[in-house]
Amino acid sequence: MFIPKHIAIIMDGNGRWAKRRGLARYKGHIEGAKIIKPIVLHCNEIGVEVLTVFALSTENWNRPKLEVKALVKLIENYLNNMDEYLKYGVKIKFLGDLSIFSNYMQNKILQVEEKFSKNKGMTFAIALNYGAKDEIKNAFKKILLKFENKELNKEEITEKLISENLYTKTFPMVDLLIRPGGEFRISNFLLWQAAYAEFVFLEDVLWPDFKPEHIDFAVSEYSKRNRRYGKIS
Ligand code: IPE
Ligand code: IPE
Ligand code: MG
Repeated sequence: MFIPKHIAIIMDGNGRWAKRRGLARYKGHIEGAKIIKPIVLHCNEIGVEVLTVFALSTENWNRPKLEVKALVKLIENYLNNMDEYLKYGVKIKFLGDLSIFSNYMQNKILQVEEKFSKNKGMTFAIALNYGAKDEIKNAFKKILLKFENKELNKEEITEKLISENLYTKTFPMVDLLIRPGGEFRISNFLLWQAAYAEFVFLEDVLWPDFKPEHIDFAVSEYSKRNRRYGKIS
């Protein structure tokens, strides 16, 4: 079995999971948040280097106010309980335009990242107010500023430099992208980083029903893929 260095997951299907049970959509988000930890621990155990999960997109703000409020509250609660990850030795990172969140949440995020920064295990990255197009736009701005300040010249604008100016900075490229929930799209997640990712779409699984076994299934599918990178074998 080949273990991907970087797994990315679009955690989709919470709303439908709740609706099927006659519950409010936010209940699906609450259930969905509970199952993140076993997935993180499983990926850490099998030797994944980076796990990036899509928790809130730049587009999700267009949902009804009450749902958005519930999502932000849930993220805040999650941030306040991250100490439960301490004993597993994982590193924690947040990706996205975090300036949209309250000062309280931004400080909390910095504290969490700092607290886990010396760990040697897998990097668990949480994408919040993340949009790949927004990320690439911000990278353009950062690079342009360095260019204007004469810190770099045109020839120094390489793919590596662009990668380093994304939120994922030095993360390896995404090897395996998993999307439960039945949609076959990328929804503005890691467009650059997933340039050569293998995709596993789990049609019949909604995120709150996602189990470590689904990671194993996706990794076994990944192991069967022939990654040619444009070559012929
Ligand atoms: C994913 O579940 C969670 C977020 C986008 C925050 P959804 O809320 O998109 O669930 P569905 O797709 O409507 O079922
Ligand atoms: C993608 O799911 C975003 C997250 C899982 C956080 P969406 O449910 O927002 O994606 P679309 O709208 O179906 O493309
Ligand atoms: Mg969805």
